[in-house]
Amino acid sequence: MRVLVAYASKHGATAGIADRVAERIAASGIEAESVEVTKVRNVSDYDAYVVGSAVYMSRWMKEAARFVNSHGDDLADKPLWLFSSGPLGEDLIDDKGRDVFESSRPKDFDELKALSPVDERVFFGAYDPEAPAKGMAEKLMKKMPASARTLPVGDFRDWDAIDAFADEVVDALTREGSTPV
Ligand SMILES: Cc1cc2nc3c(=O)[nH]c(=O)nc-3n(C[C@H](O)[C@H](O)[C@H](O)COP(=O)(O)O)c2cc1C
Repeated sequence: MRVLVAYASKHGATAGIADRVAERIAASGIEAESVEVTKVRNVSDYDAYVVGSAVYMSRWMKEAARFVNSHGDDLADKPLWLFSSGPLGEDLIDDKGRDVFESSRPKDFDELKALSPVDERVFFGAYDPEAPAKGMAEKLMKKMPASARTLPVGDFRDWDAIDAFADEVVDALTREGSTPV
């Protein structure tokens, strides 16, 4: 049994989540590796998939969307989990009174329902305004006055929640009837 944890990350926060998920799965005895989506070779060599992306403007990064679209047949055929790293801060309720994980759920999750994922998860992410801007939106944001930039700054990744997610993947893969080979 080999699990691929494939991710798209602009500034590294999502890469860190993917690495942690792969390490945690591997610690259970199931082979797992974390690979950036554009570097994945031979998707069909894996027996299960965890695919995640940073969320920008409510969407997965285009590299992640491209990956799932190109490999839909393999992903739909085997156990698949989805995750995103998005909301910033620690508030569980957003400024409109909604569950922050619901309001930060990327539109991509609905579009990927056709692949019948076992589960999906939204994790808190990280934001460092000192990191060099990548892409037009971030470059424009850097030009705005500090008072207009309202994103919470810091690393809000919840390692306990991330570990619990990895443990759910392990449990599902080791459940009776799908014993790892
Ligand atoms: C310009 C910008 C736009 C963002 N838009 C969203 C968004 O629409 N929804 C969301 O949940 N998070 C949003 N975020 C937060 C990022 O998804 C979060 O910082 C993520 O952890 C970044 O991951 P990365 O370091 O792997 O790129 C945004 C961050 C920035 C800097």
